[in-house]
Amino acid sequence: MTRRKIILDCDPGQDDAVAILLALASTELDVLAITAVAGNIGIEKTSLNARAVVELARAATPVYAGCPRPLVREPVLATHIHGESGIDGASLSPPNRPLADGHAVDFIRDTIRAHPPDEITLVAIGPLTNLACALIQAPDIAGRVQEIVLMGGAIGLGNTTPAAEFNIYADPHAAHVVFNSGARIVMTPLELTHQVLATHGRVATIRALGTEAARQVAGILDAYPKTTHFGATGGPLHDPCAVAYLLWPDLMGGKDCRVDIETEATHSIGRTVIEWRRQKTAANAHVLDTVDAEMLFRRITERLGRLP
Ligand code: BDR
Ligand code: CA
Repeated sequence: MTRRKIILDCDPGQDDAVAILLALASTELDVLAITAVAGNIGIEKTSLNARAVVELARAATPVYAGCPRPLVREPVLATHIHGESGIDGASLSPPNRPLADGHAVDFIRDTIRAHPPDEITLVAIGPLTNLACALIQAPDIAGRVQEIVLMGGAIGLGNTTPAAEFNIYADPHAAHVVFNSGARIVMTPLELTHQVLATHGRVATIRALGTEAARQVAGILDAYPKTTHFGATGGPLHDPCAVAYLLWPDLMGGKDCRVDIETEATHSIGRTVIEWRRQKTAANAHVLDTVDAEMLFRRITERLGRLP
């Protein structure tokens, strides 16, 4: 089996933690590194949390720290969701391994250049600052990356403002750079991730796995703020959806669309403006909106059960 090489860019983050575990539990994926970015919480904590989650999985994946703030805007955090630790509900030991030497942006740029075209996939589940900086420094990597699979944006309403989803809102200028880079982009917006709710029953099934990783994930999902969508209540597993797309694309559906980012607006900054109903302009992203959530949860649970 050829393992798909990925770099996982994240801001853990409760759902980021689950996404990292899903990636590390999946032998189809070769996680070359985890790159941390400021987002849900500051870079010191996202880069520390990423290492703690890697050690929970008993993996040795290097973690690089990246950008400490958005390109233009003042930092916006999501501690009201993820808590002051960034992954409330977990009780992780402090990591033993230090950060990898070097900056996340340099790692992303150099690794993509060092591999043949179409070998590296970037999975981005936080604000897009690291990716934008790499693409600004080295526009050629847009044509070399296999694809960028990102959690972010919404076809309709946002979750941080009426118009904007958190990852795009936190750094809309970075998102503008990424969406206009020419790279192949797959986007998992809120319309998809809100279907993937960690309901009480699903969390109980994960806890019943009885492993340390499952215990930590269940703790995180218990603490994770709940929302009600499509008649179900639970914490939306936004970020694992991006990793899951790489593993099981057959469970999701969507269409190619033009996506633009609102960077100037008063009330709608960070909005992803998507040509969803009629595609008039050349598409720059594949936007996913359907998912078999029940099957997805079954498969995520099975993967988590592979971890110690
Ligand atoms: C996104 O925002 C963050 O708070 C989550 O980790 C996820 O990446 C959802 O809007
Ligand atoms: Ca995230």
